[in-house]
This record gives sequence, C-alpha cells and structure tokens, in this order.
Amino acid sequence: MAGTWAFRTRAEIEATARFERMANELAEIGAEPVVVQGARDAAADEARHRDICARLAEKWGAKDPTNHVAPRERVGRSDMDQRDRLLWEMVAVCCISETMNTALMTRCLEVAKDEEIRVSLRDLLRDEVRHARLGWAHLAAERSHGRGEFLRDVLPLMMEASVEPGFLEGTMPAPWAEGLYDYGELPLAELVEIYRGTMQQVVFKGLDATGIDTSKGRAWLARFDD
Ligand SMILES: [Fe+2]
Ligand SMILES: [Fe+2]
Repeated sequence: MAGTWAFRTRAEIEATARFERMANELAEIGAEPVVVQGARDAAADEARHRDICARLAEKWGAKDPTNHVAPRERVGRSDMDQRDRLLWEMVAVCCISETMNTALMTRCLEVAKDEEIRVSLRDLLRDEVRHARLGWAHLAAERSHGRGEFLRDVLPLMMEASVEPGFLEGTMPAPWAEGLYDYGELPLAELVEIYRGTMQQVVFKGLDATGIDTSKGRAWLARFDD
C-alpha cells in the first residue's frame, strides 16, 4: 500500500511539472485556448493529487513521499519539429497514460471497500477523465490541420514507454494477497488485462477515429499474446 501510493505521489509530482511545461508550449504553438487552459488546470489538479496520494502513502508507512524532483527529460525526439514533439507528448501523456489511469482507477474503485481509499480514488478519477479528454481534443485539432501522421510510426515507442519493464510479460514482481482488493489494489494479471482491453477498446479506436493508422501499435501489443 505504501509502495502504491508513494509511486502515485511521484507520478503526480511529475505530472504537475509536465502539464505546467506543456501549457506554456501549447500556448507558444498557438494551440486551442481551451486546450492551453485545460493543461494549466491539469497542472493544478495534479498538485492537489500529489497531496491526496502523499497523505495515503504516509498513512501506510511511506517516509517523506513528496521528496521527489521531476526529471527534466522529455518524451519524443529532440530533432523533431516542436509542434510534432508536443503532439507526441500530449498523445502519450493524455490519450494513453491518462486514459489508462482512468480505466485502472475505475476498476480499483469498483473493488475497494476502504472508505478513505474510495474517496481518494473518486477524487482523482474525476480529474483524470478530463486530462484524457484534453489529449483527444488536442489531437483532433492537430489532425484538422493535417498533422500527426507520424504517430503511426511512433505508437509502439509510446506504448513501450507506458509500461514498466516486465509488465506485459507478467514477470514484474508484484506481491499479492486477496485482502488487498478491499484497498483498491489489483493483481498483476488483472492490471495487464485492463491495459490490453483499454488499449484495444479505447486508445486504438480513438486514434483510428482521427485517421491515425494503428496497425504498428496493434502489432506491438500482439507480441505479448500468449
Ligand atoms: Fe493525477
Ligand atoms: Fe492526470
């Protein structure tokens, strides 16, 4: 429990910094005002999430969970056009990660019985849904300008970056006990199932709808079929 919520605390610290930077960059490239403002609001949401997660991490015994500095490295390739690189990042962060988070936390909330965990998950979930939409809105706007064709080729890279090593192979160490369900924890096999299902039913479909060819992404995921 301490590990889960300390991990989430670090992720929220990184998300805060990322949305702050992306909001500025989105403004620079002349993104839709609603997307720029959405990214600014998201940065504020993530800072609040950090505190929600840190409170639970500490409750379960994590020491100083907010003692984490977001790394400066960013996604995408440095030789890319800034606007494309930002689109890459928005798709990776919002369309993939935030969509995954939403699916995952929805399931966690279904199983959790602990009231404090339920309240926290519900609180986080409400915002993450909005963060996912932000990416889809930006992608749609860029597609309407004829941009984003390159996403077809980098989709496997994005997916690879969206999982921990050994996750899809099911070899990642993930200690488990039935009782953990009550606290909104899920066993690794179920996490993998949610990842695959969400990728297929939400992310690929969403990208297809904007005319992005997802065949390379689908092939990448199929490599982990058993
Ligand atoms: Fe968050
Ligand atoms: Fe978020």
